[in-house]
Amino acid sequence: MPAEKVIIDTDPGIDDAMAILFAIVHDDIDLIGLTTIFGNVTTDIATRNALALTELSGVDVPVARGAYVPLVQEALPVADFVHGKEGFGEVPPFAPSGSPVEQTAADFICATVNANPGEIILCPVGPLTNLAIALEQDPSIATKVKSVTVMGGSVAAGGNATPFAEANIWQDPHAARAVFEASWDVTLVGLDVTHKVICGPADFAGLADAAPKLGGFLNDAAQFYFRFHEKHDGFYGCHMHDPTAVISIARPDLFTLEHGPLDVIVEGDKAGQTIKSSDTFRPRANLCMGVDDNAVREVFLSTIKSSF
Ligand code: RIB
Ligand code: CA
Repeated sequence: MPAEKVIIDTDPGIDDAMAILFAIVHDDIDLIGLTTIFGNVTTDIATRNALALTELSGVDVPVARGAYVPLVQEALPVADFVHGKEGFGEVPPFAPSGSPVEQTAADFICATVNANPGEIILCPVGPLTNLAIALEQDPSIATKVKSVTVMGGSVAAGGNATPFAEANIWQDPHAARAVFEASWDVTLVGLDVTHKVICGPADFAGLADAAPKLGGFLNDAAQFYFRFHEKHDGFYGCHMHDPTAVISIARPDLFTLEHGPLDVIVEGDKAGQTIKSSDTFRPRANLCMGVDDNAVREVFLSTIKSSF
């Protein structure tokens, strides 16, 4: 089975870092590029952090800078209380030697999809602004991507940014609505499953022992993330949101799906809530509702341990 060609759209971000390093190391993922977006951090910090991660891994992956603000609404505060001001907890920011490509994130997505029709999986693990802009620029990409795997939203698990809205959707609900309206094949990896995939301090200490460079970095970055979860969720560990989305590409067998059209509430108290749409003409999304959480954890941990 050839490796899946994936573009990760990302706001790194501690769990984004876990997802990106997993994608770089795992044999069944061919990471074609990283496109950056605001959310956990500003777009400029996300871009710096994406470059830093590729340099830490020693693998040359193009990074394209994305949008600075949401499609319609005013920008919301970045989640620095979750990921730290520099995005990797208390790990000091390291200045990458590389630079992003000249193209914008949307241009990079459109160019790569048009050059590889039927082969590219888009995996947004941040707000969906770049994908919405790419759709506006070239609607034909909806028929040319292989699929879209979204870390975001929830069907029955409520929200984490508000009681109703998951953070990635909350940051740009209009963009999410555009992504869910398009005719491409969308799989939603929402809080329904990512809240079930949890790792803790011992898991990350084991990564550091087995893979001092990549595992050691993730262990250092995760400490801040553990403390956030202790305060916010009442356990000392972390939800593996973004790695779970990328793992669903490599191991779809670990997930059980429902299907239905999705919409997003874009204003009011419930802004950012993903809901099942009553529009029978809207494409049906694949909704991850069940997960073999232990297997997903093991795939993540064993993959990073196999690195260095
Ligand atoms: O709600 C979790 C999502 O929001 C994750 O992608 C996390 O990195 C933040 O972007
Ligand atoms: Ca993210």
